[in-house]
Formats: sequence, C-alpha cells, structure tokens
Amino acid sequence: MPIKNNNKSAAAASRTPEAESALKELFIDEIKDIYWAEKHLATALPKLIKGATSEDLKQTITTHLEETKNHVTRLESVFESIGEKATAKKCLAMEGLLNEATELLSDTDKGTEVRDVAIISAAQKVEHYEIASYGTLRTLAGTLGYNEAQSLLDETLAEEKKADSLLTGVAENYVNEAAAAETE
Ligand SMILES: [Fe+2]
Ligand SMILES: [Fe+2]
Repeated sequence: MPIKNNNKSAAAASRTPEAESALKELFIDEIKDIYWAEKHLATALPKLIKGATSEDLKQTITTHLEETKNHVTRLESVFESIGEKATAKKCLAMEGLLNEATELLSDTDKGTEVRDVAIISAAQKVEHYEIASYGTLRTLAGTLGYNEAQSLLDETLAEEKKADSLLTGVAENYVNEAAAAETE
C-alpha cells in the first residue's frame, strides 16, 4: 500500500535517506508500543471501574474505557495510513503502571475514598504516559509527512488530555475532601 500524504517539509527534504529511515523506524516502533499499551489498558480499566466507589469516578473511567477501545482501532488506522501491518510490541512502561494500579487496589480497602484517590492517581499516571507518547508521535508523524496519521494521533491526544482533566476534576471536587474527612 502506498504511503499517503507524504508532504515533505524543508527539514525533511534536507534529511539523508538513512536519517529519514531511522526516524520512520522509530515512529513505527513507538506506534507498536502504544498499540500494546492501549490494548492492555482496555483490559485493565474494568478492574479500576469495579474497584471504584464514587459514581463520578466510575463514570469517568467507563467513558474513557470506550475511548480507549477507540484508540486501539484508531491506531490500526494509523498503521494502515502508512502501509504497515498493525503489530503490538510489549510496552514495559504501561505494564509497570498497570502493575502498580493492581498493587494499589490490593493495598486499599474496598468502599473507601482512599481507594478512589489511589485509583485516580494510577489512572492519571497512565494518562500522562499516553499524553507524552501521543505528543511525541503526532510531532514525529508531522516531521515524516504522515499527515493522515498526524490528525488521527491528534484526535487521541485531545481525548487523553480531556480524560486527565476530568480525573483532576473528580479528585478536586469530591474524593480528596472525603478522604481527608475519613482520616480525621
Ligand atoms: Fe488512550
Ligand atoms: Fe487514556
């Protein structure tokens, strides 16, 4: 399949073919990494929803679970747009973040606000990882002239940022206050 939207910038035009192919290799590698990360996140988020007490928090994560499933299929479109087969490569960072989330669930008691705070903290660490990844990827896509991939990655980046700010809202408006009251 031909590579679509391959509009070269001036910087790209001056890049050596070796440098161009190294950048492309890095881009594909990172897409494989985040593809694995999103797929695993989609399997882990139901545990966080189940573990949460606040309805607000459950709802926020449930909405983001649906978005996360969309991020997986959107990445498949990214692969397709550059003529690559969708392949997942184990993401050690996401694996670690999800292991930490599981640990937080086992270290806190069911039905407590403290557990909700722990869940928000774990979820936000995941979002920040994703925001950093998609931020780099959308820029790299632009550098490589992959315009279609760039706009797909931008859509996901916007949803990750929104999810992060919604989680901040849940923490600020409700859960942190309740957790402080529990320890009084
Ligand atoms: Fe995502
Ligand atoms: Fe996310």
